[in-house]
Amino acid sequence: MPKYFHSRFCEKTFFKATSALLFSCVCDIIMGMRVTILNGPNLNLLGQREIEIYGRESLESLNGRLLDFAKEKGLSLTFHQTSFEGEIINIIHTCSDDFLVLNAGALSHYSYAIRDAIASVGIPVIEVHISDVSAREPFRQVNVLKDVCKDFVYGRGVNGYFIALERIIKLMNNE
Ligand code: DQA
Repeated sequence: MPKYFHSRFCEKTFFKATSALLFSCVCDIIMGMRVTILNGPNLNLLGQREIEIYGRESLESLNGRLLDFAKEKGLSLTFHQTSFEGEIINIIHTCSDDFLVLNAGALSHYSYAIRDAIASVGIPVIEVHISDVSAREPFRQVNVLKDVCKDFVYGRGVNGYFIALERIIKLMNNE
């Protein structure tokens, strides 16, 4: 290849690679923090199950409102819901977001496996419970996840998820 073409080729490749890198940095800045919201067993039934405790809003509607809120605040959200303990563990292991908001449902009261998963990865977890678990049946007052989580929100209804996002924003701003 003549020298001129060779250096033009290198220049173009360099330019493309630099622009791609710049573009991804700009996207990161625009999109801000990435947060996974993970709901465990029975939370797919929000709006139908025990509405006097968990309220009338469905998970789909709640996630929609959380997305709007996150957009306003410059956060990018990913949602998961599963009723399988092993899947929750896999999601925790593979999560590469900056924060995880977790409502592990009843598993929070006894799953040492989820506790170990949280302790095994570096991701900060904010634990959410819609109901006031401290004032319910004795088995719900036991929480095996709490002390491996960064923060804990309970008894605030579905607003607890918004409070968790606000706490994340405060943590980001070192407040
Ligand atoms: C819950 C509380 C748990 O005790 C219960 O098993 C749930 C929901 C809550 O959000 O209040 O499924 O995690």
